[in-house]
Amino acid sequence: MARGAAFLGSETAIMCGAMSWVSERHLVSAISNAGGFGVIACGAMTPDLLAAEIAATRARTDQPFGVNLITMHPALFDLIEVCARGAIGHVVLAGGVPPKGSIEAVKASGAKVIAIPPTLAMAKKYLRSGADALIIEGMEAGGHIGPVSTGVLAQEILPELAADHLVFVAGGIGRGAAIAAFLEMGAAGVQMGTRFACAAESIAHPAFKAAFFRAHAREAVASVQIDPRLPVIPVRALKNKGTEAFTAKQSEVAAKLDRGEVDMAAAQLEIEHFWAGALRRAVIEGDVENGSLMAGQSVGMVTAEEPAAAIIVGLLAECEDALTRRTPVALGALYV
Ligand SMILES: Cc1cc2nc3c(=O)[nH]c(=O)nc-3n(C[C@H](O)[C@H](O)[C@H](O)COP(=O)(O)O)c2cc1C
Repeated sequence: MARGAAFLGSETAIMCGAMSWVSERHLVSAISNAGGFGVIACGAMTPDLLAAEIAATRARTDQPFGVNLITMHPALFDLIEVCARGAIGHVVLAGGVPPKGSIEAVKASGAKVIAIPPTLAMAKKYLRSGADALIIEGMEAGGHIGPVSTGVLAQEILPELAADHLVFVAGGIGRGAAIAAFLEMGAAGVQMGTRFACAAESIAHPAFKAAFFRAHAREAVASVQIDPRLPVIPVRALKNKGTEAFTAKQSEVAAKLDRGEVDMAAAQLEIEHFWAGALRRAVIEGDVENGSLMAGQSVGMVTAEEPAAAIIVGLLAECEDALTRRTPVALGALYV
């Protein structure tokens, strides 16, 4: 974990993945103050809002933190400039292939680029394009997901890249023993979202947190694509009326595509706006029936509100325990 921590500038290489509406000044600063690495979720924020969030986070911590930018944001390059003016050291480019010039623009500001490749081939491509580190995220994760599990991605990508590059693993990590396992496979660190969403410092509505505490892994389901022409990115969230509303939203957008009222890019953006709005309803307003309760399969391991520092201390203790328990076995093998 040391090289991951050195890269991030934090005490430990436990990143709290950006969660729209949740990862704002309070949670991000709490994570970074606790020795983890907080990441602001820019989501659909305007450049002015992002600038204000960076300044407010900086006022709460003198530790490093990053910013997560969604590559399809229409003002991506303005947001990159805001990060540069805010002296952000690490920018995570999420939500699809970074557009031409975006990696270069981040690097020109002196910041490190962290990319999220969906496959080994894309991982190699992003590294060739200048990405300084990668996050590989499996389908157990909360929020937007790919089709492959964390375990398989890790087995495919870590042996090829982890010796020479910084690779963080995300998706479905709930306990320190899992962190230990990925570190042993060569990961430089991990990124977790679900476990931190209900931290005491998270501004998520009490009803949102209560829904997490009640939920089990099998209730965190991936959304279903209903129209083959509209390639929506699946989202993992707790099953509720909002999940059904998404099916209706897809039909509505597909019908607009049919009538030629929108093109594919506009249709996809409308879908993404739907998610942003639905997530806000759940996180901020506490509408856990109709809003989106994005959550990963590790949600069953989130059972009570704890300060971010306590979560991190617990994870590190479990991780250390797992690693030391394994050592005698390895040493014992030498004497056989
Ligand atoms: C409520 C919620 C919102 C999220 N929003 C974003 C986002 O805006 N941008 C992003 O790149 N990832 C987002 N994610 C994914 C997290 O950054 C992180 O990669 C993921 O939660 C890790 O998997 P885990 O939930 O199994 O720990 C979100 C996840 C959750 C649970």
